[in-house]
Amino acid sequence: MSLLIKGGTVVTADDEFRADVYCENGKIVAVGENLDVPGGAEVVDAGGQYVMPGGIDPHTHMQLPFMGTVASEDFYSGTAAAMAGGTTMIIDFVIPSPQQRLMEAYETWRGWAQKASADYSFHVAVTWWDETVHEDMGTLVRDHGVNSFKHFMAYKNAIMADDEILYNSFSRALELGAIPTVHAENGELVFQLQKKLIAEGITGPEGHPLSRPPEAEGEAANRAIRLAQVIGTPLYVVHVSAIQALEEITRARGEGYRVFGEVLAGHLMIDDSVYRHEDWDVAAAHVMSPPFRAKEHQAALWKGLQSGNLQTTATDHCCFCADQKAMGRDDFSKIPNGTGGVEDRMAVLWSQGVGKGRLTPSEFVAVTSANAAKIFNIYPRKGSVAVGADADIVVWDPAATKTISAKTHHQKVDYNIFEGMEVTGLPSHTISQGKVTYKEGDLRAVEGAGNYVNRPNFAPYYAAMEKRNELNKPTAVKRG
Ligand code: URP
Ligand code: ZN
Ligand code: ZN
Repeated sequence: MSLLIKGGTVVTADDEFRADVYCENGKIVAVGENLDVPGGAEVVDAGGQYVMPGGIDPHTHMQLPFMGTVASEDFYSGTAAAMAGGTTMIIDFVIPSPQQRLMEAYETWRGWAQKASADYSFHVAVTWWDETVHEDMGTLVRDHGVNSFKHFMAYKNAIMADDEILYNSFSRALELGAIPTVHAENGELVFQLQKKLIAEGITGPEGHPLSRPPEAEGEAANRAIRLAQVIGTPLYVVHVSAIQALEEITRARGEGYRVFGEVLAGHLMIDDSVYRHEDWDVAAAHVMSPPFRAKEHQAALWKGLQSGNLQTTATDHCCFCADQKAMGRDDFSKIPNGTGGVEDRMAVLWSQGVGKGRLTPSEFVAVTSANAAKIFNIYPRKGSVAVGADADIVVWDPAATKTISAKTHHQKVDYNIFEGMEVTGLPSHTISQGKVTYKEGDLRAVEGAGNYVNRPNFAPYYAAMEKRNELNKPTAVKRG
């Protein structure tokens, strides 16, 4: 199976140059001008277009059992929708219930993901602690290609990790050369504010952002960062939505700490007025955590991305339809938290990033693909267009336009948070494992074609960390 992408401009995170790209058996085998390739290859004409690494969405939740229901998008439909938008890999989350063995949950999610049509990998959440969690973290890193562990600092009485769990898990991650990640919100504060608001009669979706103020995010981000700093491990903060959290990340990075930040396409574009929409269903459709914020936060997040203090973009794709959102009709704290976007992230980032002069095409590649590949240790296999890399590629037409709508999207959800947004810059072709899976409106995703991607642990980071930790090692004072 061979494919020639002809006449385009290759864009990587470092470079932009005219070249053909030739792929065989799922790999890129040649990149160069006017390539002379064996006959029989399928040819994609990329004239006037960019040829970039396929998007990597490092934060999705396909068919997640959550808040009494199950996310509507499954691994097949979700990865297919992703490819319709130029994303060729997702990193989803295994989320064990408290007291459930991590390995048992991991096997369950691996089973669900068998039907994925694009490549995928898993972060594994640590939602409780005992010796078996310690053991299973080791098994996951050593034998199953997991190099990141997620901690929800919110969702009290469900999956929230307290400081003791964070301490134990961050310390174990350090031993294993894996990176801890956090959903940073002070879960106790959120819980108390939810109760207070409901008691005051604020039961509608407008209560959602009031119960999750930006300060709750800033506090948790700072707590996780400082724990990681003392323990001596790097940290990745997912879905940074607030100035307060961004400032903590920026400060820690300025102090020399390896702290990474992810921002969602939704948090860059949507403000909190959605929660005051007169139509309950529309307001509820936007309930996700952390919530959409007041306008000044979006401006700050864009600057965070431009300055490099935020390195990745994601969607937190976690879809619930109107009948599921209705579970919280009388109590906003029962509205299943989550919104979609896996299909739209690339177009939104290109249109509002490159199209508005906030990002160069290379910076676009960095924040939509290469940086996630680097942070989660699958670069340059993923996130680059180079000989030896996986042939996960998007051919990007910078002139193509569309209006985003739930009526036309491929996502399995009845609402689109970007509804009505006009975007310029779209994939003309998405190539997964060297095969064209999306061509100008024709989605050819194949159920089960996606491969699980092993992510090895981080030898270089941790070698540096160990040296630094060794230098800072306390010594006992000898007396007498
Ligand atoms: O509201 C959200 N984000 N739902 C998915 C779970 C999470 O917090 O990431
Ligand atoms: Zn989260
Ligand atoms: Zn999430």
